[in-house]
Amino acid sequence: MGYRPGMLPLYTADYPSFGAHDAAALATLIRRAARPGCRMAEIGSWLGTGSTQVFIRELRDIPDAQLLCVDTWRGSGNVTKHREIATRYDVLGTFRRNVQPGAHLVCELQRDSVEAADEIADASLDLVFIDADHSYAGVRRDIAAWRVKLRPGGILCGHDCEIRAAKLPPIGGESIDSPDQRFRHVHPDCIRAVHDSLGDVELCSDHVVVADGVPGYATLWFQMVGSAASG
Ligand SMILES: C[S@@+](CC[C@H](N)C(=O)[O-])C[C@H]1O[C@@H](n2cnc3c(N)ncnc32)[C@H](O)[C@@H]1O
Repeated sequence: MGYRPGMLPLYTADYPSFGAHDAAALATLIRRAARPGCRMAEIGSWLGTGSTQVFIRELRDIPDAQLLCVDTWRGSGNVTKHREIATRYDVLGTFRRNVQPGAHLVCELQRDSVEAADEIADASLDLVFIDADHSYAGVRRDIAAWRVKLRPGGILCGHDCEIRAAKLPPIGGESIDSPDQRFRHVHPDCIRAVHDSLGDVELCSDHVVVADGVPGYATLWFQMVGSAASG
């Protein structure tokens, strides 16, 4: 079904989806890949209030930068709060309102992420950030579909990979209490999917990040594509 504006209210309450330390880590990765005419993709944008705002802040003054925002805007099927919000609110309309400061660079693709990848030329993107379906199969699918879209030297990265797979207890799940003091929760399915797809990627949690003057840890993972280390 297509988008029908005005049928449901916009979502105006807070939805904390992306912490300050994750924002600082993502900003660093974006700055590394940004250049005039750069093209980046965010896989999973939701309300446009989290990672999307980091992209907009970092890219809005870069000449001819483009940000592809890929989402169904239906929420992730396995996240109850997403389903509730998507039933009662106009999620895509909310996203559009929230990204207005970056309207000149945001290009929305309202599709399943793998279908959207089929429309993008291989080796054409400078950075891809994966934050959509957090199931094991979903993360693996997104990595396989989007990694090839990066030019050599481009950055593949994603959310919710707090620790190495080897440090996980032998259970799965989208989110569990953390076995590591630095985080309250960890995401076993996402962590294992990243590990099984790419091996030992870089974890931002290997370094302290300072955000708003407070030291802490970010949950992003990343890999430079086509570098000697990644093949
Ligand atoms: C965790 S939220 C994204 C959060 C966002 N990056 C932020 O920082 O606020 C996950 C998003 O992925 C979208 N999503 C889940 N599965 C998807 C799929 N197969 N294709 C496209 N979007 C999907 C959901 O609709 C949801 O908006």
